[in-house]
Amino acid sequence: MALNLDSLAQAAERLRASRRLVVFTGAGVSAESGIPTFRDDNGFWQRFPPEQFAHWNGLLRTAVARPGTLAEFLQAVIEPIAMAQPNPAHRAIALLEKHVTTSVITQNVDGLHQDAGSVRVREVHGSFFKIVTPRGRPIHRLRREDLRTMADRLRGARTGMFKLARLLWALRPMVGPCWRGIKRPGIVLFGDAMAEPDWSWAWKDVTCCDVVLVVGTSGLIDPAAALPGVARQNGAFVISVDPQEPGTSHVWLRGQAGDVLPRLVTAAFGSGNSA
Ligand code: OAD
Repeated sequence: MALNLDSLAQAAERLRASRRLVVFTGAGVSAESGIPTFRDDNGFWQRFPPEQFAHWNGLLRTAVARPGTLAEFLQAVIEPIAMAQPNPAHRAIALLEKHVTTSVITQNVDGLHQDAGSVRVREVHGSFFKIVTPRGRPIHRLRREDLRTMADRLRGARTGMFKLARLLWALRPMVGPCWRGIKRPGIVLFGDAMAEPDWSWAWKDVTCCDVVLVVGTSGLIDPAAALPGVARQNGAFVISVDPQEPGTSHVWLRGQAGDVLPRLVTAAFGSGNSA
């Protein structure tokens, strides 16, 4: 069904009047950059069961028992991120900062909001580019090309002999011993605490914003999914952009983020703002 133009105008009006905006994003905002979502058809959790792949213990067990399967999973996750570039949705979100004080709270770990030019980005589920100690202290950052090299090596570790050794070799920039002890990717898996200080900043943002733009999330995974509701309880107006009907919002803009968001920003702030 086509985008409802009355809803678009209403959402644009709210954006224009906003003084403090929160953009809350999930996997859907990066779908048009070629990164699969989690729960849509062909999403990660359709192909790789989360009971096995969404927490550290499951990943460790799989590494030992079936290293080729873990290499397949990690390659499926890392390669699309390694190859991705911001799409018109990321760029439209970055443009909003020119007009209104904006915080982007993202559940994504792909770094695409920053690449598109967003400055105040809260990565509440962490980032694949941050390498941290087991307690989450930063060690260093990877570049997208480091992920490309890892993805190539992971492809080689999926089959053949010595899979575990080749898996560990592929993951060397991200996992293993280092001068700070042990390093790991700074991502949040099921059962982990949220990434700090981003999570505390995100709470602060949703308690003092007047509009929340929710883009491309099923809103199923707490505590992140609770953020738009907290903003709403504090009086914020909630706009959703998603092909599927969201749980609670004041206005739903039905469609793909890469189509809807540039139109929304143009409707709110004029045609000099197309992404
Ligand atoms: P989901 O896969 O649960 O939801 C993706 C959402 O994006 C759905 O509502 C889709 O309708 C929507 N969508 C798909 N294509 C879109 C497009 N082109 N434009 C706009 N929307 C689109 O992904 P998340 O909600 O991000 O956490 O998942 C939340 C968390 O669950 C993730 O951060 C991850 C996962 O398990 C952890 O692993 C801790």
